[in-house]
Amino acid sequence: MKYFGLKFSVTATLIISACLVTVMVRAEDKECYDCHKEARQRFQKEFVHPPVEDEDCSACHEDHGESNSLKLTAEAPELCADCHDLDDDDLKSAHKNYPLGEANCYSCHNPHASDNEKLIRTVQHSPFEDRDCESCHGEPQDKIETIEDGAKLCYECHDAKNDKKNVHPPVEDGECTSCHSPHASDNDKQLIFKGGDLCYQCHDRKDDKAVVHKPVAEGLCVKCHNPHSSDNDFFLVKPFPKSFYPPYKKGIYALCAICHKDTVSNLAQRYGAKTGFIRNNENLHARHVNNKKKGRNCKACHDVHSGDQEKQIRNEVPFGRRYKYPFKYTKFKDKKGGRCVVGCHKPRVYGPAVIQGSN
Ligand code: HEC
Ligand code: HEC
Ligand code: HEC
Ligand code: HEC
Ligand code: HEC
Ligand code: HEC
Ligand code: HEC
Ligand code: HEC
Ligand code: HEC
Ligand code: HEC
Ligand code: HEC
Repeated sequence: MKYFGLKFSVTATLIISACLVTVMVRAEDKECYDCHKEARQRFQKEFVHPPVEDEDCSACHEDHGESNSLKLTAEAPELCADCHDLDDDDLKSAHKNYPLGEANCYSCHNPHASDNEKLIRTVQHSPFEDRDCESCHGEPQDKIETIEDGAKLCYECHDAKNDKKNVHPPVEDGECTSCHSPHASDNDKQLIFKGGDLCYQCHDRKDDKAVVHKPVAEGLCVKCHNPHSSDNDFFLVKPFPKSFYPPYKKGIYALCAICHKDTVSNLAQRYGAKTGFIRNNENLHARHVNNKKKGRNCKACHDVHSGDQEKQIRNEVPFGRRYKYPFKYTKFKDKKGGRCVVGCHKPRVYGPAVIQGSN
């Protein structure tokens, strides 16, 4: 037994150390750019920070190992103060003598490269671009102060963003800087993150099901939602009913009509309409949706963000408060049309060539 145990542990040690060697060799072999090829491209700007030019990435980054997440050797301003003397007179006067002791240096500078001098980020807020620090900070003090707090500062120069019926909570709370840099960023409108990543800082992902609605996949949340406030539910830019069974009226699906004109404008046309959801000549979109007593919302069948089945069709349809109907959808591969097995009615087949009355 003892002998076997010893043999086992020797073998195990050999295996484990072999693995460790492989891992270490792999990590040592690879430079940052071996894996981050697109970063090399992105850092090719007119002005490149010398440590980046020298590929001295570890001046600021720790090796992230298997975690694959951002790991800096320190936070700003310490990270930068390693090489830049914050008490240097030139440095101070470049910052108009505003104190940098608590500065988030990369709220204005890109740490890698920029097309602007002094590594200033590309999209500059107009008063910052004019270097008019005083308009927001007043005269330099020992500590960074602003002349007004939160949204009040922004409303000194901008129209109110909380003037519609439904206000997005961070706007209500005056947290404009949770989305916009007051100084500069590399994204349009000085947003601190691009596209959907901005919203995903606070919300669950909306692109996590198999079939993702194209504008959601592309992070175009603001094509449908106003980030500030709106008179519509869910801060939508155009009306879209909240209820599952809204009585049909023209215009209630204006949101979808922004991009799906044909499907929505044909809802009044029971026969011969331009839609793929058709049975013989009958427009099944109209049949389901256009009902003056109990119409079916688009979301009864399609998920607005991402769905489990083709065409963002959902897996189940809520019924009442507690029940759910299963929804099995098969799109025909070889011809137009498909088959719906749902709890709402017996299984049905649709398509332009389907004979009335057949399944
Ligand atoms: C073996 C491949 C590999 C090597 C070598 C590597 N990385 Fe990564 N790194 C990744 C992957 C994969 C991710 C996660 C996907 C992503 O965000 O790009 C990642 C993520 C990151 C992130 C976070 C990205 C973000 O947006 O939050 C940073 C920063 C980073 N790496 C920097 C470095 C630096 C600096 C080095 C060199 C010291 C390095 N990496 C070496 C593969 C690697
Ligand atoms: C002077 C410090 C510094 C150096 C040198 C540096 N980085 Fe970074 N890097 C940062 C900071 C700070 C962030 C995160 C903050 C940000 O960009 O908003 C970051 C973020 C990143 C990210 C994720 C965000 C992005 O822009 O893609 C990657 C990838 C990355 N660095 C790669 C590298 C590589 C590769 C090198 C070496 C060629 C390098 N960095 C050198 C400071 C540095
Ligand atoms: C490893 C050393 C090192 C670190 C860390 C470092 N820098 Fe630099 N930085 C340099 C060198 C070297 C220069 C070029 C010489 C100079 O202008 O002082 C430079 C230049 C700059 C410039 C441009 C100055 C000009 O005249 O064009 C800016 C802006 C800057 N750094 C900002 C930062 C910020 C922000 C950080 C922290 C994220 C940082 N640096 C961290 C070494 C470093
Ligand atoms: C509020 C925005 C902002 C912040 C925060 C900020 N900087 Fe700057 N920085 C600037 C501006 C603006 C300039 C001058 C650019 C110009 O001349 O066009 C500058 C210039 C510089 C320069 C060049 C100095 C010179 O002699 O020309 C360096 C280096 C620098 N900053 C480093 C830092 C470091 C390190 C931090 C963090 C401790 C930091 N900055 C924080 C806006 C900022
Ligand atoms: C449009 C208004 C506005 C202008 C113009 C402006 N700032 Fe700021 N600044 C702010 C706000 C708001 C904050 C607080 C940031 C936050 O809440 O995240 C801030 C924060 C700072 C900070 C500390 C925290 C950080 O993000 O680095 C420094 C340093 C700073 N500003 C320097 C400057 C300098 C220097 C200028 C001129 C070159 C300037 N600011 C111009 C609004 C402004
Ligand atoms: C001192 C006046 C002033 C203050 C204070 C101010 N801004 Fe601005 N802002 C401007 C000017 C001027 C422009 C450029 C003209 C325009 O597009 O409205 C601008 C542009 C913008 C833009 C881009 C607009 C566009 O359509 O491209 C955003 C976003 C913005 N500001 C956000 C803010 C936020 C957030 C605050 C508060 C932290 C703020 N501003 C405070 C003067 C100001
Ligand atoms: C939840 C994130 C978020 C918050 C919080 C936020 N914004 Fe915005 N803001 C955005 C986005 C995203 C856009 C771009 C919209 C677009 O492209 O259609 C934008 C656009 C803007 C614009 C330019 C277009 C316009 O509507 O005038 C201004 C100015 C602006 N915001 C100011 C503010 C002010 C002031 C506050 C605080 C009261 C604020 N924002 C709070 C996300 C936000
Ligand atoms: C700084 C955090 C933050 C950011 C960033 C943010 N939100 Fe929100 N949002 C909230 C909070 C808090 C609520 C209220 C609580 C909730 O319903 O999740 C909310 C609510 C919502 C609601 C209503 C939810 C409901 O069930 O009534 C929508 C829609 C929404 N946000 C969309 C967006 C979009 C689109 C973006 C990106 C442009 C975004 N949010 C970015 C914090 C944020
Ligand atoms: C094609 C239009 C459209 C796009 C694009 C879109 N949404 Fe929505 N979103 C809606 C509609 C419609 C609702 C209301 C759903 C309902 O009535 O149940 C909604 C509801 C929400 C809600 C509240 C309910 C929930 O599902 O959590 C949040 C949060 C939200 N969206 C965030 C986002 C984010 C983040 C993005 C971008 C990644 C995005 N939306 C893109 C149309 C859209
Ligand atoms: C900002 C534009 C935009 C808005 C608003 C929009 N969609 Fe879409 N939608 C698209 C795009 C783009 C596609 C992909 C079309 C393609 O691939 O041919 C798509 C595809 C679809 C599909 C799949 C169709 C197919 O042929 O595969 C459905 C179902 C759908 N959308 C439903 C809706 C519903 C329901 C609404 C309203 C809540 C809506 N859309 C609002 C842009 C939009
Ligand atoms: C009863 C379920 C159901 C309802 C309710 C429904 N759809 Fe559809 N929709 C479908 C099916 C099934 C398809 C696939 C048709 C095919 O095979 O091409 C489809 C296809 C689509 C397409 C692709 C283009 C087309 O017209 O064929 C769009 C866009 C679309 N629907 C949008 C909407 C919108 C907007 C609403 C609400 C006004 C809505 N749907 C309501 C089941 C539904």
